Amino acid sequence: MTIADTINSLSDHGKRLGEQTLRELFEADRARFDRFSARLDDLLLDYSKCQIDELARERLIQLARAANVDGMRDAMFSGEKINTTENRAVLHTALRNRSDRPVIVDGADVMPGINAVLATMADFSEAVRSGELTSSTGSAFTDVVNIGIGGSDLGPVMTTLALAPYHDGPELHYVSNVDGAHIADTLEKLDPETTLFIVASKTFTTIETMTNAQTARRWIAEKLGEDAVKDHFAAVSTALDKVAEFGIREDRVFGFWDWVGGRYSIWSAIGLPLMIAIGPDAYADFLEGAHAMDIHFCEAPFDRNLPVLLGLIGVWHRDVLGYSARAILPYDQRLSRFPAYLQQLDMESNGKRVMKGGEPVDMQTGPLVWGEPGTNGQHAFYQLLHQGTSVIPCEFILAAHGHEEDLQHHHDLLIANCLAQSEALMLGRTLQEAKDLLAASGKPSEEIEAQAPHKVFPGNRPSLTILHDRLTPYNLGRLIALYEHRVFVEGVIWGINSFDQWGVELGKELATALLPIVQGTQSADEKDSSTKGLLTALKAQ
Ligand code: F6P
Repeated sequence: MTIADTINSLSDHGKRLGEQTLRELFEADRARFDRFSARLDDLLLDYSKCQIDELARERLIQLARAANVDGMRDAMFSGEKINTTENRAVLHTALRNRSDRPVIVDGADVMPGINAVLATMADFSEAVRSGELTSSTGSAFTDVVNIGIGGSDLGPVMTTLALAPYHDGPELHYVSNVDGAHIADTLEKLDPETTLFIVASKTFTTIETMTNAQTARRWIAEKLGEDAVKDHFAAVSTALDKVAEFGIREDRVFGFWDWVGGRYSIWSAIGLPLMIAIGPDAYADFLEGAHAMDIHFCEAPFDRNLPVLLGLIGVWHRDVLGYSARAILPYDQRLSRFPAYLQQLDMESNGKRVMKGGEPVDMQTGPLVWGEPGTNGQHAFYQLLHQGTSVIPCEFILAAHGHEEDLQHHHDLLIANCLAQSEALMLGRTLQEAKDLLAASGKPSEEIEAQAPHKVFPGNRPSLTILHDRLTPYNLGRLIALYEHRVFVEGVIWGINSFDQWGVELGKELATALLPIVQGTQSADEKDSSTKGLLTALKAQ
């Protein structure tokens, strides 16, 4: 039986389960929460509000075994080249390996190299933070601008924002978009004498990053002279030759390796801006948290293994129940970029249509991932979550404690709102309940009949909740690693390569080919009528 057949065989059970609402499942089983939740220390995954029972879980775990999730996991951790289309190992886990365990790639232990880069990052960060490292004019750096895009931007941006209470270094700015507005608006606020740029690009060829880096270089050269460039730039890349060509000093270049995927690179030197913001000790805690999740993923039995359970629920929702999206809803303002971060992690990894061997995949793969922090989303798109025609499984993320101890009332409201939303999605409101409420408010019967259908909530909408103690560096590391491994589990079950991203290539190639046409040095004659028409309309403006 193929994996697709096994998944199809689950659909009968899914349908049977669907005959009972979540409300009924909770009414029938007082211990449902205990049965369908799991923890790692203070990190709790509650999936009891998903349409699942013990048999479904057991069969999903069998599916994970049949797909060799444990074998593939061990292969990843031990440095096997599981990124088959690029013939690369996948070792972001080695970057946060806090044990003495060697990790061998091509016959050599990668750990000494990793630890050496971490040590140079720590020295550099401390020198910038203390003001010991100065600019061309002898000033301390007050501002650091990271220029990167995708994985060379989203990880540092998201984590810097998330860990704002730990931020005691210079101010951080992020420029990613090739739209000149992004760098112009950023530079506008800055003083070149006190600004340090980090050019972050795994390949050092990404057109957006290179264009922004050249603009920043010109800005420094114009304001402070060409000679100042060497004092105002650092780089993070695997392409050391290209960095040297750009003119960045060798002792300001932080390397990483081809076995670190862009969207998994926050644990590498790509995390340098975060380290500058929060300091090497807090950064080490961040790595420790991810390492704790790695150990859990490797050692916990599947029925208590958070990434495995999260991945299996993902497959259950996507392939058995047919839901095509998932909403990421952190009840934490500082996680406001977390949905965008997960979008890249999940959609660039599992947005695939062929299996590892190149044959078309015979299941649905990665869902649409999107979201916004609560409570803001409640006043925007939750209407659709509650009463729209599509069912979208929701993933709530909540900390028991905020950092603002003097604003406990705010946090109580945040918690109440988060729990209320998952309760409302699960319970819904029946027509009779809607009518009773309208009657209780004294409405006349005609109005009750007219209004009640609009006030019905179908309910029975799945959600899961991830709780943790507080958004610390350690807990953030653990949370990111949880989602990374979830994506891994799903990718293994779908039989796809979660570690390449060929889908971004075609657009890049066509953009390169279009540039001379946009600039008027080549004719658009060969283009389709839509592209030609748009080019003509642009020129006419
Ligand atoms: O757009 C695809 C991609 O390769 C991402 O995977 C990556 O994170 C991003 O571009 C940036 O790449 P680089 O770090 O090489 O500039």
